[in-house]
Amino acid sequence: MQSKDLVHLAEQYGSPLYVYDAEKIKSQYNRLSKAFSKVNKLRINYAMKALSNVAILQLLREMGSGLDTVSIQEVMLGLHAGYEPDKIFYTPNGVSLEEIEEVNAMGVQINIDNLSILEQFGTKYPNVPVCIRINPHVMAGGNANISVGHIDSKFGISVHQLPHLVRIVENTKMNIVGIHMHTGSDILDIEVFLYAAEILFDAAKSFKNLEFLDFGSGFKVPYKKDDIETDIEELGKKLSKRFNAFCTEYGKELTLIFEPGKFLVSEAGFFLAKVNVVKQTTSTVFAGIDSGFNHLIRPMLYGSQHHIENISNPKGKERFYSVVGYICETDTFANNRRISEIKEGDILCFRNAGAYCFSMASNYNSRYKPAEVLWMNGEGHLIRAHETFEDLMKNQIPLPTAINAE
Ligand SMILES: Cc1ncc(COP(=O)(O)O)c(C=O)c1O
Repeated sequence: MQSKDLVHLAEQYGSPLYVYDAEKIKSQYNRLSKAFSKVNKLRINYAMKALSNVAILQLLREMGSGLDTVSIQEVMLGLHAGYEPDKIFYTPNGVSLEEIEEVNAMGVQINIDNLSILEQFGTKYPNVPVCIRINPHVMAGGNANISVGHIDSKFGISVHQLPHLVRIVENTKMNIVGIHMHTGSDILDIEVFLYAAEILFDAAKSFKNLEFLDFGSGFKVPYKKDDIETDIEELGKKLSKRFNAFCTEYGKELTLIFEPGKFLVSEAGFFLAKVNVVKQTTSTVFAGIDSGFNHLIRPMLYGSQHHIENISNPKGKERFYSVVGYICETDTFANNRRISEIKEGDILCFRNAGAYCFSMASNYNSRYKPAEVLWMNGEGHLIRAHETFEDLMKNQIPLPTAINAE
């Protein structure tokens, strides 16, 4: 889609606004499938935490995607979007046995990531097919907050605890049908994936009834022009070959699963915000927009870089700006960024706003969450309305007037 389409959408639906390009989501899905076309049984489970709008879930369901979920509410949204329960994978961390039991009753594939719950679940439900999340202890990921496979991580069952794990499985006679790992996000080096895969293959040999191996995700996407990204095609070539060889060794054709979030939706997303104020100070020029980290928290949370363009004046002379939000704390989207000349009222476009942007939005400062639009077949479809004051008040219960008056 083009910048002028985005400007029109901002005019039509107001700002701030999230826009997603359906074609980009589809092409990323197809690209991953193609890269692993040498694997007979491939399954892509979209990690819906990245962007959980039901319309996006429907779009991916129609592409043939399954779903990776981390909470019972995500499972409910997936079912609501029309996914069959057996297309949904549930990979929680630190949730109660009760929640896992509830999700199990919905017919969804359970993935367990600690020995305590594994033993309790296996004792109660020995016949339920279960997947186990292994922690391979590989340090990988774009920054500490999104590196989850290392030695200090709370995720997964340590691969060094394999003997204990196997003992629990034998004692409870539970049915382990898959093993899983996910070592982090924004992993560039394909050798990291291949190295961690070897650990998973090794662990897999301890289980006789496997049906699938789930390699998680963590593919790095480009964040700006000419940025580096995970070489999916090269990874596809190398990992497919190794996976097929492992299946021969194991004596069974297993399903290879990936659960990408960012790879499928990050580049498809655009966040549009209007410049309220251009403020010269002694040290910089601030462009203050009609949004803040309540709508897009990644720069403040992880120091993430979102490429920012002035789509109202794309050919203007470039100047340096600090782009800031309206939240009453430090609220910086970008420092000292080269952007074409900004005037008050211009629309700025933040790239890579598909993954972990709207899904992390909040009502902090009692601001409304923005609308979301899906751009499909050359036109915009509203897939979430802008919030209103009623939404802010929906679950609030004011004190009775009599108490108020005392
Ligand atoms: C278990 C699991 N799977 C998949 C993902 C998706 O990762 P990404 O968005 O990097 O593809 C995550 C992200 O946090 C995750 O925790």
